[in-house]
Amino acid sequence: MTSHKSPPGPKNKLPFGIDHLFSATKDALAHLKAMSVDGDVVHYVIGAGKVKMNVYHLNHPDYIREVLVTNQRNFQKGVSILLLKDLLSESILTSSGDFHLRQRRLAQPAFHKKRIAAFGRIMTDFANRKIESWPEEATLDMAEEMKQLTLEIVVKSLFDSDLDKENTEIREALEGLNDWAERILLPPRIARLLGTIPIPVTTRFNKARQVLNSSMDRLIAERRASGKDHGDLLSMLLQATDEEGDKTGMSNEQVRYEILTMFLAGHETTALALMWTWYLLSQNPDAVAKLHAELDSVLAGRTPTVADLPNLPYTEKVFTEVMRLYPPAYATSRYAVTDQEVGGYIIPAGSRIIISQYVTHHDPRFFPDPEKFDPDRWTPEFKATLPKFAYWPFGGGPRLCIGEPFAWMEGALLIATIAQRCDFRLLPGHPVATRPQITLRARYGMKMIVSRRKVPIKKVPVEAAS
Ligand code: HEM
Repeated sequence: MTSHKSPPGPKNKLPFGIDHLFSATKDALAHLKAMSVDGDVVHYVIGAGKVKMNVYHLNHPDYIREVLVTNQRNFQKGVSILLLKDLLSESILTSSGDFHLRQRRLAQPAFHKKRIAAFGRIMTDFANRKIESWPEEATLDMAEEMKQLTLEIVVKSLFDSDLDKENTEIREALEGLNDWAERILLPPRIARLLGTIPIPVTTRFNKARQVLNSSMDRLIAERRASGKDHGDLLSMLLQATDEEGDKTGMSNEQVRYEILTMFLAGHETTALALMWTWYLLSQNPDAVAKLHAELDSVLAGRTPTVADLPNLPYTEKVFTEVMRLYPPAYATSRYAVTDQEVGGYIIPAGSRIIISQYVTHHDPRFFPDPEKFDPDRWTPEFKATLPKFAYWPFGGGPRLCIGEPFAWMEGALLIATIAQRCDFRLLPGHPVATRPQITLRARYGMKMIVSRRKVPIKKVPVEAAS
């Protein structure tokens, strides 16, 4: 340990530092940005006595790498994940240590690149079906439309189910989780305490949990009863025995928590990235022109396949740039297991560590003119010089998003399929603002005028092109 100096940080304006809590819950993005102004390590204290909590914001990619990769054993998910455990118990997302490693090993084969490639057709089929369900021109909330689309895709791909019967019930249940999710920004113990008081948010959460649990249980029971191997994640989890570990399989209850995790983690993040894509494109006609030029020349009106993706570099750049400006997972936290030194400062054991994609993605040291939507910045040369963890929408290290290859493929295929057939204009007067909850949502949704693209395109049958 080289130094005992204190890192910079804001003075508490209100007793127990509750001003930091207010600022984090009022506007999390502004709070994260403000906590990056003073330096790459910024510190403040919340609470006092036994409930005193040291909070450290680590704003440099090198420090983020230490937390997530090189020194990850000493920075664990801890109390920060307590709230999610109320819904997901011990799952791949919420557990740690050996149990997490085991769950990760069991689920990993379902996300292998080759297996994921087979989902391409499901993604484009559902996208085309979604477009067909829209009138020639209509005002639609793209937050909702994209959420429905990605939910259908993840359920079909990973559980080979259409969820037709339960669709409305599940959608209402997901709505019921929204306000509860806002508590993620509060200190976990306070958030959990609120969860024991029968206020409307808690009642809605309990109802939602019940609906989601019983839907997942039904899926599992039907699959067990059929005895059929669908070759999807659900069959894989039901049959899995941990050969490298204790050679046991998973109970129905454990499978429920895992599929509920995939169900929740696997649709809203991608839906938000797509919603922000349609918004950013609507504000940047030059980017739309380039995107259309690429799609028209490569696809000439046919539905894209996975094999087309290497030939759609601009489409990928658009998706990359959208997730830079609006990272769906905009921040995460860990706690220091023992005293740690970061950037020359001592971080005491038990401190809360905040690292934020939003902060590094908007840092002018790494992204010149950071607020500009500029897909062209993503040249191979630029990527080669970018420090690791300056851009990290999917996290990193052992807790790297398991769905990353799925999400890249889905993002590119849905942008290519939908942008080829539709134009998007923001509804005049519709306010656009972020609403950071667990993910980076839009406060007022995203009302857009969606119309069919009126360019004459040469139709090539899918079979002839694939
Ligand atoms: C654009 C889309 C997505 C984004 C931006 C995203 C982002 C992330 C991030 C940042 C983490 C790490 C969180 C942390 O370290 O605290 C994560 C973990 C995870 N994600 Fe994603 N994700 C996306 C799509 C998906 C999809 C499609 C799936 C599944 C089908 C998925 C399943 C998971 C799971 C299970 C974890 C926990 C992994 C572990 O702890 O071992 N995600 N995601």
